[in-house]
Amino acid sequence: MNLNISPILLPSIKLTYREFLSTQAGGDSFMRFRRALYTESDSLVQVLNSCVLQGLPMVRKDVLRVCDIGGADGTRVRSILRFLHAKFGIRFALDFVEQSTYLMGALSECDISGFTQTQRFEMLFEDATLRGPYDLVLLIHSIFAFENGPTVDKVLSLAAGDSTIVAVSNSQESLLAQLKKVLDSGYQDARFELPDLLRVLDQRGVRYRQIPFTTKWAVPNADLEEHISLLYDWLALGRQDDLGDEKKSEFRDVLQRNAIKAGERLMFSEDEVAVVISGVLDR
Ligand SMILES: C[S@@+](CC[C@H](N)C(=O)[O-])C[C@H]1O[C@@H](n2cnc3c(N)ncnc32)[C@H](O)[C@@H]1O
Repeated sequence: MNLNISPILLPSIKLTYREFLSTQAGGDSFMRFRRALYTESDSLVQVLNSCVLQGLPMVRKDVLRVCDIGGADGTRVRSILRFLHAKFGIRFALDFVEQSTYLMGALSECDISGFTQTQRFEMLFEDATLRGPYDLVLLIHSIFAFENGPTVDKVLSLAAGDSTIVAVSNSQESLLAQLKKVLDSGYQDARFELPDLLRVLDQRGVRYRQIPFTTKWAVPNADLEEHISLLYDWLALGRQDDLGDEKKSEFRDVLQRNAIKAGERLMFSEDEVAVVISGVLDR
């Protein structure tokens, strides 16, 4: 009996990812994950604000044209705009692209509307007719379902000579990368990851800076099982029932191998990279 399964019959992880994030369960699972790793005050946004954004020449402009691609519920871009407005008095024209109706529905503009005009694009970035060029294009953990090179070309086309594109992703060997390796089997394709992005940028001759940073968090020993489930629910993309006990125990092993004991708590760390592209037209 031939047990080889044609790749054509296997599901697409990019489609599965997008569909999962379009459900309430998927959207809530992502937001729980984001709170657990970064807290309400969002350590990732703090890194971007202080290490990347406040040092860019664009902060001299009165009005910034910003495009957030895959912005989910908008929590992060709102926090970034509030910071730049409070610090520099900048106003914004924001184009917000998000394919999930559930997450787009969770976007509130009330704390930015005094200084931001927002246009919503509830669709795939690949399908959106955007009003570029932008001063700032954000891709925060939102490249995984990209359709490869042409999508990166579309991102690059949104930039003018003095624009900045900031993409954030996990590094290739990070804890989440190891956990995804355990779960991402049985698909016909793979997530679009940081090395894929960098390869396309290199092929296009685009110059960029990589700013590595580490996200750390701790979990009480007694809450470990609950934390494993929180990470598993997010990274399994709704396929928990199909994956079976063996995958969950492999997943638990990877997490436990990466945990550092600190008294009654376990410490974890995730290596991430902010890729900063400036002067796209200089290439
Ligand atoms: C992991 S979430 C990150 C969201 C947000 N940037 C943040 O950091 O909180 C990725 C988001 O990108 C969206 N997304 C992924 N691929 C997309 C695409 N091709 N077009 C539009 N949205 C996309 C998903 O629906 C999801 O809301």
